[in-house]
Amino acid sequence: MRVLVTGGCGFIGSRFVERLVGGGDSVVVLDKLTYAGNRANLDGVLHDFVEGDIADRDVVSRAGDGCDVCVNFAAETHVDRSILGAREFIHTDVLGTYVLLEWARESGARLVHVSTDEVYGDLEPGYSSSELDALRPSSPYSASKAGGDLQVLSFVRTFDVDAVITRGSNTYGPYQYPEKLIPLFVTNALTGKELPIYGDGKQVRDWLHVSDHTAAIDFVMRNGSQGEAYNVGGGCELENLDVIDRIVELCNADRGLLRHVDDRPGHDRRYSLDCSKLEQLGWSATHDFVSGLRDTVDWYRENRAWWEPIKSGEYRTYYERQYAARLQT
Ligand code: NAD
Ligand code: DAU
Repeated sequence: MRVLVTGGCGFIGSRFVERLVGGGDSVVVLDKLTYAGNRANLDGVLHDFVEGDIADRDVVSRAGDGCDVCVNFAAETHVDRSILGAREFIHTDVLGTYVLLEWARESGARLVHVSTDEVYGDLEPGYSSSELDALRPSSPYSASKAGGDLQVLSFVRTFDVDAVITRGSNTYGPYQYPEKLIPLFVTNALTGKELPIYGDGKQVRDWLHVSDHTAAIDFVMRNGSQGEAYNVGGGCELENLDVIDRIVELCNADRGLLRHVDDRPGHDRRYSLDCSKLEQLGWSATHDFVSGLRDTVDWYRENRAWWEPIKSGEYRTYYERQYAARLQT
């Protein structure tokens, strides 16, 4: 197959490209190289590359020429950044998805829309979201992702576009930009910096290893039915404090670095996915969190040359804006 992977220089997209190329598929990556995109994530992985914006119709048609399928990872992805300003989220996650749908409609190619469990909003203890649940996004990020999901469903029904949706849970592993909980806390712990816990730290997330996530997306790309959404969870629901304790231990960090800071506005308390639909088709997560997190910490320990330059660039401005006042109180 010839596959267009949009956002293929980001965290999950780059591991997906590596997987496809390893399996013999031909890949063209289209990426705008925002702060989160990094060409070095694909070092040693054979692929064609187009730098550009998924919201630009001409760029998409050039990159997608001859492709059988597009898998869309391109997105603005960080909830905290969407709270600081959502314009880029609407541009890429909403308008960009629309442009890819128009391309799929014209070319007849399949579109795999990579979405998130955050579209379901937060849940009461004991409940897990099914694919048929209403979308109740809480943040500007999850609202923009839900906007993408709804456009996909509308293009399937109205124009018979061949599109499918995956809704993955919190993903971790190597090559994740150090703004999300795990890579931020690991890199801060390794350098003796404070670890800012939002609120009481008892929020629950379901942790999914990036290899399990890319395997699920690959599976849905090949076997998913037109118009269907598929939940992809790691089967590992933990309170943030549990995850943080393990990170502190694995990094041999001082517990004095832990700080409870002002909570994220609108913070979702708990996510949980019912993944039986995809499991009945033959996919299930295989990584256990204990070894997955240990390997991830080892990767960050051994690959400082990957993340240290990131943490000294644009990142510092963002970090100051996000954390300086919180850490002073
Ligand atoms: P990321 O932030 O690491 O990478 C995003 C990539 O998209 C970057 O390479 C960036 O340069 C590119 N990009 C951004 N805007 C673009 C545009 N307009 N045109 C072309 N390229 C653009 O993201 P990630 O964490 O790998 O997430 C990938 C996808 O998976 C996203 O759709 C996200 O919503 C979804 N997802 C992520 C997680 C998670 O925990 N990271 C969980 C579930 C779903
Ligand atoms: O659930 C899937 C989603 O997971 C993806 O769609 C998003 O792209 C991805 O960013 C992630 O969203 P979260 O908001 O859950 O991830 P984040 O790593 O930002 O936060 C995880 C939890 O940790 C959350 O409860 C907030 C908390 N947190 C996060 C940061 C960055 C802290 O306590 N302190 C922090 O500094």
